[in-house]
Amino acid sequence: MKAELQAIQAEALEAIKSADTPDALESLRIKYFGRKGKLTDVMKGMGKLSAEERPEMGKLANEVRATLTQAFEAATQALHSQQQEQQLAAEAVDITLPGRKPAYGKAHPIMQTLEQIEAIFYQMGFEVVTGPDVETEYYNFDALNTPADHPARDLHDTFYLTDGHLLRTHTSPVQIRTMENQKPPIRIIVPGKCYRVDYDVSHTPMFHQVEGLLVDKHATFSELKGILTSFVRQMFGDKTQMRFRPHFFPFTEPSAEADISCAVCQGKGCRSCGGTGWVEILGAGAVDPAVFEAVNYDPNEVTGFAFGMGVERIANLQFRIPDIRTLYENDLRFLRQF
Ligand code: DAH
Repeated sequence: MKAELQAIQAEALEAIKSADTPDALESLRIKYFGRKGKLTDVMKGMGKLSAEERPEMGKLANEVRATLTQAFEAATQALHSQQQEQQLAAEAVDITLPGRKPAYGKAHPIMQTLEQIEAIFYQMGFEVVTGPDVETEYYNFDALNTPADHPARDLHDTFYLTDGHLLRTHTSPVQIRTMENQKPPIRIIVPGKCYRVDYDVSHTPMFHQVEGLLVDKHATFSELKGILTSFVRQMFGDKTQMRFRPHFFPFTEPSAEADISCAVCQGKGCRSCGGTGWVEILGAGAVDPAVFEAVNYDPNEVTGFAFGMGVERIANLQFRIPDIRTLYENDLRFLRQF
């Protein structure tokens, strides 16, 4: 029996050494310690031994049991920490690798300019409102004192849709929409897209304007000049000069076009300003009484002034874009420069 116990111990220790998974260890444990296990079998034979032999064999059997139990525990421990190490290694993050850069976008140059314009007028107390791109002839022309037989109407090169609809040629129709819905005083700007059949280095069929309208009991032309001058100086710098030239618009009387000293050459004359030192950026004027009548305002009670500026023009002065059509070709190599 002694030899048998020693053989079991040697065999089991060898087997435990080569068990490489917790499952393998567990089946070994059952093989030796289980109800029908090898060690258990030998122990059962104890009863057949003589009284002299029994204590010695009992002691040996207990020693074998203790040795094997210890071996099992040590092997379980070892397997456990080996597993943990493998898991840690598999999950390890190499913090020396460069991070993943998310692709990021930013505002289109025209939107950057629009946001600046809005911020300046907002800070002067103007509310930002918007209107539809698809308009009716009534809002785009008639209510703005430009009936069908008016020669100014031909200047707009309009994209006509069906049923008297069209793509608005300017943001001025939002003046009418706002006055129809609000009582004076009114102080709004209207950023938005406009459309005209036009395509060359300084014209795209879709472009942007910012309309302005102020209506009150005593709105004057000199306030208009003051507000616009303040705007261009905030936009282009304190030294910017502004001049108003008499002009004609059906919806204002008197009307003017306003130029600023060229921001590219500081008024010295360059390609951007055609050598004149001045660049036209907006139209403006005192609201024509006929426009007030179209929205049921009493021209004897209120006066107002309005202006409309071209955003691409202004962006052009800021960014010096030789051909404004490139703004809308969506070439990222171009757009990333802004
Ligand atoms: N709507 C005009 C245009 O597109 C610009 C303009 C001129 C707007 C005078 C106005 C204004 O509000 O008073 O050319």
